[in-house]
Amino acid sequence: MKSLNPFDKFNVQSIPLHGDISILSAAHEPEYFPHREEQIEKMVNSMRGLMMGMKTNHLLIYGKTGTGKTSVTKYVASKLNEKMDGNLVISYINCQAYDSPYSIMVNIAKKIPGAENIPVSGWPLDRIYDELVIAMSKSGIPVVVILDEIDKLVEKNGGDSLYMILKLLDENAGIRGNVVGITNDTSFYEKLDSRIKSRLNRDSVIFHPYNTEQLKDILIPRISSILGPEQYEEAAINLCAAIGAQEHGDARKAIDLMRISIELAMLESASVVEREYVYRARDKLDSDILRDTVITLPTHAKLVLFSVIMSRQIHPNSATTGEVGLYYEKICFIAGYTPLTSRRVSDYISDLEDYGIISTMLKSLGRYGRTRLINITAREEDIKNFILEDLDLEKLRSVNFSLQQKFE
Ligand SMILES: Nc1ncnc2c1ncn2[C@@H]1O[C@H](COP(=O)(O)OP(=O)(O)OP(=O)(O)O)[C@@H](O)[C@H]1O
Ligand SMILES: [Mg+2]
Repeated sequence: MKSLNPFDKFNVQSIPLHGDISILSAAHEPEYFPHREEQIEKMVNSMRGLMMGMKTNHLLIYGKTGTGKTSVTKYVASKLNEKMDGNLVISYINCQAYDSPYSIMVNIAKKIPGAENIPVSGWPLDRIYDELVIAMSKSGIPVVVILDEIDKLVEKNGGDSLYMILKLLDENAGIRGNVVGITNDTSFYEKLDSRIKSRLNRDSVIFHPYNTEQLKDILIPRISSILGPEQYEEAAINLCAAIGAQEHGDARKAIDLMRISIELAMLESASVVEREYVYRARDKLDSDILRDTVITLPTHAKLVLFSVIMSRQIHPNSATTGEVGLYYEKICFIAGYTPLTSRRVSDYISDLEDYGIISTMLKSLGRYGRTRLINITAREEDIKNFILEDLDLEKLRSVNFSLQQKFE
């Protein structure tokens, strides 16, 4: 007898899509960027000299997360390459992932004719540098080095790798190329040392946060290519755009929300994407982001965070840095870790605040100075569960938050 297919009870597609939903995914590279005309023009003006055999200025791109910096930069570089009939090398490097001078040089070398064989490790840096100079000068092909999250590069190497790349492109007569550095740190330039500043000080472009109307202009062309007007509530788009605008004008957030809303509607066999789905998509997205953040924290940051939750659940109004420090020592003991110094705990508390998982408020203790009161910005139960996904912290599962005696 033919067995029943357990998937039979679900429709393959409740909302018939006219196109591929991947148009709302991170991998989609748009060809049209509403409200970035001015930035594109500035970038084109800064880089167009490469087409005419000239040396061009390096370029710095600033803007908050989700404002289109990476996608617009890749788009402009690829259009320049198209105009130059493919005679441009575009080396895109995410400095979060590649942060050593060696890995960056190798990444550039991979695309330079005659330098492809530079090994991924083992050579001294100056040998790579010399080989690159020879290969780049010989090929004569201009290079655009996109250093995404350039601030991470400087943070980790104190500027040496950046200086080396700028020197490579600036100081060799046969080499033409420029760096396009992307950052969301508005004080990035100020923090550089003067030898780098003097090379980077020419052109910069700011990507401003999008407002609700602008985000709607970004969402609508994408949505209309997959859904008919009867398949979504306009209010749903408005809400995605409004939430994205609230979150520092973030197009990524607005697009993600729209995609998840459509997926939720489809899973429920709905025929229209209603506003309600956007609220649910927001909860899901926030929880996914929180989970990603928590599970990738270093172990001691998780231990500190766990102690914050503990402290807040036992003494809701007095979770201070000192109090958390006390719980932290006990939590470390239970989990089998040696506690770090209170200075390091304090650093982790600041990091957790930077990630937006906790918030702190200074509280005066009169003549005893000041302390920080700590608050959790998301659902404590969710955070706790994400921490407990770490198998190295298995022993924390046995901690009973209501048994405060156990800790006193
Ligand atoms: N003007 C726009 N038109 C169409 N899509 C856009 C526009 N601006 C941003 N996007 C889309 O929003 C998403 C986020 O953009 P992008 O990754 O370029 O942001 P970013 O500024 O580099 O963010 P981060 O600082 O987090 O790296 C991408 O999917 C991109 O295609
Ligand atoms: Mg980016």
